[in-house]
Amino acid sequence: MLGTPASWDRIQEGLDSPWRLRRAIAAVVLTPVWRALLIAGGVRVGKGARFYGFPQVRRFAGSTIELGANVVLRSWPGSNVLGLAHGVMLTTMARGALISIGDGVGLSGTTVAAAKRVIIGSGTLIGADVLITDNDHHAVGGDLYATGLEGVDSAPVEIGERVFIGARVLILKGVHIGSHAVVGAGAVVASSVPSRAVVAGNPARVIGSVANPADVQHSPPAGGL
Ligand SMILES: CC(C)(COP(=O)(O)OP(=O)(O)OC[C@H]1O[C@@H](n2cnc3c(N)ncnc32)[C@H](O)[C@@H]1OP(=O)(O)O)[C@@H](O)C(=O)NCCC(=O)NCCS
Repeated sequence: MLGTPASWDRIQEGLDSPWRLRRAIAAVVLTPVWRALLIAGGVRVGKGARFYGFPQVRRFAGSTIELGANVVLRSWPGSNVLGLAHGVMLTTMARGALISIGDGVGLSGTTVAAAKRVIIGSGTLIGADVLITDNDHHAVGGDLYATGLEGVDSAPVEIGERVFIGARVLILKGVHIGSHAVVGAGAVVASSVPSRAVVAGNPARVIGSVANPADVQHSPPAGGL
């Protein structure tokens, strides 16, 4: 509410970093248009979703893509201070596939491809240019050049709640990441990560743990990542 200390802080932040103010205004103006286009394409969009640039969303017939309440999707190259190589890309690749993005999740130039299922829990923040896929896209040991998913290995990916994933991480098929975990920038995650673990490297290994997770009441991520 205007007049509260928090709202004045936000105004001050906008004055201190005018690029944020400009992109916030553009997002407020354009979000209803992008929301309408996504819904017209059969995507479920929760209340309060905010779009900084239009994501590429490609939904296979008979599959589901759902965005929870208060999600923030950053697609303009300058909508994240680290810069984005491309906008958010969400693609279901088969009938019955599911991409489910929980409430309050922040995506910045994130690629998600699902032949089966990719689920991202509420409050999870995903840094610039992360790639998440639940399949190999080519038939390893089979016909590499075949189109379609025949012979292609796939296994669902599930990411818990309030996970923090650093920039340029790769998350591969079958990975489960527990709630409150942290994945270091540039990690290649090929096996599952326990809740509250901090992992990094290629392949990602545990380097620490989250002792005191910020268990604050969830609010939509507002600032730039
Ligand atoms: C994972 C992370 C949170 C760890 O931070 P931290 O707890 O302060 O960890 P430290 O810097 O003390 O590093 C601990 C060890 O892990 C290693 N390490 C940390 N981050 C690493 C990474 N991303 N990849 C590989 N190794 C890493 C350090 O080299 C160090 O190794 P050492 O013990 O052999 O010296 C942080 O390094 C990180 O990657 N942050 C993500 C930033 C980001 O991408 N934000 C998103 C913006 S859109």
